[in-house]
Amino acid sequence: MVQDYLSGFANDFASEAVAGALPTGQNSPQRVPYGLYAEQISGAAFTAPRGENRRSWLYRLRPTVGHPRFGPYGGAPLIRSGPFDEAEAGPNRLRWDPLPPSEKPTDFVDGLATYAGSGAPADASGMGVHLYRADIPMTGKVFSNADGELLILPQEGALAIDTELGRLSVSPGEIAVVPRGVKFRVGVAGPSRGYVCENYGALFRLPELGPIGSNGLANPRDFLTPCAWYEDVETPTQWVQKYQGRMWSTELAWSPLDVVAWHGNFAPYKYDLANFNTIGTVSFDHPDPSIFTVLTSPTDTPGTANCDFVIFPPRWMVAEHTFRPPWFHRNIMSEFMGLITGAYDAKLGGFVPGGASLHNCISHHGPDRSTYEIAIQAQNPPHKIDGTMAFMFEGRRPLQPTRFALESSHLQSDYDDCWSGFTKAQLPV
Ligand SMILES: [Fe+2]
Repeated sequence: MVQDYLSGFANDFASEAVAGALPTGQNSPQRVPYGLYAEQISGAAFTAPRGENRRSWLYRLRPTVGHPRFGPYGGAPLIRSGPFDEAEAGPNRLRWDPLPPSEKPTDFVDGLATYAGSGAPADASGMGVHLYRADIPMTGKVFSNADGELLILPQEGALAIDTELGRLSVSPGEIAVVPRGVKFRVGVAGPSRGYVCENYGALFRLPELGPIGSNGLANPRDFLTPCAWYEDVETPTQWVQKYQGRMWSTELAWSPLDVVAWHGNFAPYKYDLANFNTIGTVSFDHPDPSIFTVLTSPTDTPGTANCDFVIFPPRWMVAEHTFRPPWFHRNIMSEFMGLITGAYDAKLGGFVPGGASLHNCISHHGPDRSTYEIAIQAQNPPHKIDGTMAFMFEGRRPLQPTRFALESSHLQSDYDDCWSGFTKAQLPV
């Protein structure tokens, strides 16, 4: 299969899968080439400032407006949505082992399990944090989410994400973002699992760079948006939609992945985390982990994110006379972490690929005792942390865990023990 991508972050792209399908000179000609139907999808208010405005024009075989009425969808038993109120947040630190395999063959949508969340789609604020496990492709089914954009991180198994605007191949170590409202289908080649951040707030964007300058962190040209692609399939297709927290379903007589050409700046994209230009100290101490921000969803309060997507990639540690692992801390922001591969430098064990942890607003966390003991004795030559990729969804609102997350057997009951046994500091007598 030929796969092509367009390079750049939120550029104004233009792409056609059939020569001459894309209108030129205007968005909505009286007659669209080949009799295609023009549709606009708006990812920002019409009147949003130019720098914030996101929309795309789609030219498709059939207008999607011709769909039947939606009814309740009976799948996805573990998906939850804001407002999150089925369990108490509490001040406890939480950590989970990886999701066990599903008991029966499950596709991406039905395999979504919500761990925690904040805010609500209707408030355009907060996020849902999900893990997924899938072992069969979505066949005869597409999904769209009216509640937020979806940041998808495969941890095991590559995903073939076919969207209305083109096809994405996403492997562990890469991420994909599917915009709010864009229909897509996920194919898997075998047992697959990973993480999803459902962003109810402002669209993810690249963080400001401040004194770093005009380059660095995630560089815009490394983001890849698919070229136009379509299928002309006239077999029944189930369209599942998440809408204000509930799952809905209708059936089309055709595949809605029938967009032959499109242009605009509201489109899916993928990014290889290996391309992240990691910046850290070259003297002493280390910066706050905000230095590892890949994408951010801002709020109306400058510098206070609805969600920051942060990674902990391979990097050289060279700080002198410094405690190099993450320090003990409390944070007004709430931190949900996952691990794609390798080991995370604040924990010697217990936090494994496919696992997760939640350190909510102002809860104490940091290196486990084993990591601490090693770090204060280390000689600190230059050292490369390699073969690892941890990440964090960090947001301004506390993340309420779901009942599933709190009552599952893979919640570690002994997490607090990793911080037990610290000896008291000795003051001079
Ligand atoms: Fe933290």
